This record gives sequence, C-alpha cells and structure tokens, in this order.
Amino acid sequence: MKILVATEKPFASVTVNLMRELAESSGYEIAFLEKYRGTGELADALVDADALVVRSDPVTAQILDAARKLRIVVRAGSGYDNIDLNACTAHNVVVMNTPGQNANAVAELAFLMMLYKARSGFSGKTGTELRGKTLGLYGFGNVSRFMTLIANGFGMKVFAYDPYIDENIISNSGALPVKSQEEMFSKCQYVSLHIPANEQTRKLIGYNLLKLMPSKAVLVNTARKEIIDEEALLKIFEERPDFTYLSDVEPDCKNVFEEKYRGRFIFTEKKMGAQTEESNTNAGVAAIRQIIDFFKTGNDRFRVN
Ligand code: 3PG
Repeated sequence: MKILVATEKPFASVTVNLMRELAESSGYEIAFLEKYRGTGELADALVDADALVVRSDPVTAQILDAARKLRIVVRAGSGYDNIDLNACTAHNVVVMNTPGQNANAVAELAFLMMLYKARSGFSGKTGTELRGKTLGLYGFGNVSRFMTLIANGFGMKVFAYDPYIDENIISNSGALPVKSQEEMFSKCQYVSLHIPANEQTRKLIGYNLLKLMPSKAVLVNTARKEIIDEEALLKIFEERPDFTYLSDVEPDCKNVFEEKYRGRFIFTEKKMGAQTEESNTNAGVAAIRQIIDFFKTGNDRFRVN
C-alpha cells in the first residue's frame, strides 16, 4: 500500500520524518511530492497511490481520473474547500480532514497580527493595548476556542456568534454568546473570522455588517478570502479611515490596498496560519494515523463526503 503526501507548501522536516516513521513502521510505502508544479505532476505521482495526503493542494476530477487505485484523501488541516468532494464521491474516494490540529497555530497568528497592528508595526509610534477591548469571534470552532483562551489572558472582552453551536458551549469556553451577527459586529472593535469557505459563506462579510463596527475597527481574517465581499470592504475603507484589515491571505484587490490604504492592512504573502512545526506535526501525523486506521478497521470518523 502506498501513501502519497503532496504538499505544494511542504511540511517541516521534523514532521516529514515522523510521518515517514509512522507509515513505514505500519508497513506502508510513503512518498513525498513537494513544491510540485501543476496538477499534471500530481496526477503522474498518484498513479500507484492508495492514499493521498494534501494541505491546500487542489484535488480535482482530472487528478482523480489518473488515480486508479486511490481510496482515501486526507486534508492535513481543517478547511477542505480545495477538494472536489462530488468528484471524490463519484470516484469512490473517501475524504477526511484533521480538524483542530492547526487551531492553536492559527489563533497565535491572529494575535500576532493584532498586536503588531496595535503597536503601530514596531514603528515606535504610540500604539494601543488589547486589554479592555472587545473581540468578536465569528464561528466558534477549534480556532475560536484557542482565541478565547488567549484573549481572556490579554483581558479582552470576548463575544462569539455561531448559530450551529449551543450557547452553553460558548459560555463554558469563556466567551459571551451573541444572538446575531449584527449584534457581534456592532459590539466589537476587533472581529476575527473563523468560518469555512463554501456556498453559504461566500461573500458573507459584506457592507451591512462591516459598517456596524465601532470606531477603530479591526477585521481579522485567518480563514479564507472568499468569505469577504471585497467590493464592500473597499467601500468601507473609502468611507472609514479608522478601519483596518489584517488577513492571512492576500485579497484579490490587494493592488488597490497597496495604492490607496498603506498602513491600514497586513497581508501575509502566502497563507501561514498553520506554518509551525507543532501544527505541521499535529496535522501530518493525524493524517497518516487516520489513513492507517481507515485501511485497518474502516474507521471513517472524520469523513466529510
Ligand atoms: C487549514 O484549513 O487547516 C488552514 O488554512 C491551513 O492550511 P495549509 O495547510 O494550506 O497551511
């Protein structure tokens, strides 16, 4: 049995070693395809693979056509918007993710961006503090739970909105549940987005929400660029010089930001929320474990298709 690990953005070397050790000690062959160029190279490498591990790498119908033996794809991470689930189902391929494994790393990056911005980007200019400020968490999954822990440590007042999560779970985790997205945007100077990108959330964060944010508003996006209505964001930036956008992925309208709004945004060049050794290891090792368990016992606990 062969596992292919295809990562355009490679895992840390310590993670690669641990994944290799685990797979080989369980009798699997494992191959790593890193920094590859295009789907053609991935399709060629998949010809004799039984299982595939990816990160944000696109898994398309075209790739699946070439992967005759493939039975399982594990997205080492949380968001699986890069995987064509219908095509996988049509090809009898099980898809899983590894929820929670990257969560602390993403939460720490969100705070890094908030603090860097609050302290005027190390410029020496007078900044502000997080203590006493309001933070709204949109979506209360694994990242938001770590965000809550860190924010409470900083003395922030934490609100959360998630229509799919029981209010008691939110309050027991240390955040104050709010009844609507409007309420959260109106209350919070900082809003951090932790929702997946799908048909329901595409451009969900639009003008009517953003305009509710109090003065010196800071929008933090470590999720996906697709959830933002970029036209609405640009409109707000034009109207409100107090508005800041911090994002772990460049928006499509990055050029407009660079031209007109210097100093009011941070965009990482390449998505780096999960780029820590710890998070790579958590997600990479979990992916190999899930594959081994699936072949051994049929366990498909984290199946998403
Ligand atoms: C995730 O969905 O788990 C994160 O966005 C990490 O994505 P990455 O594996 O491409 O860094």
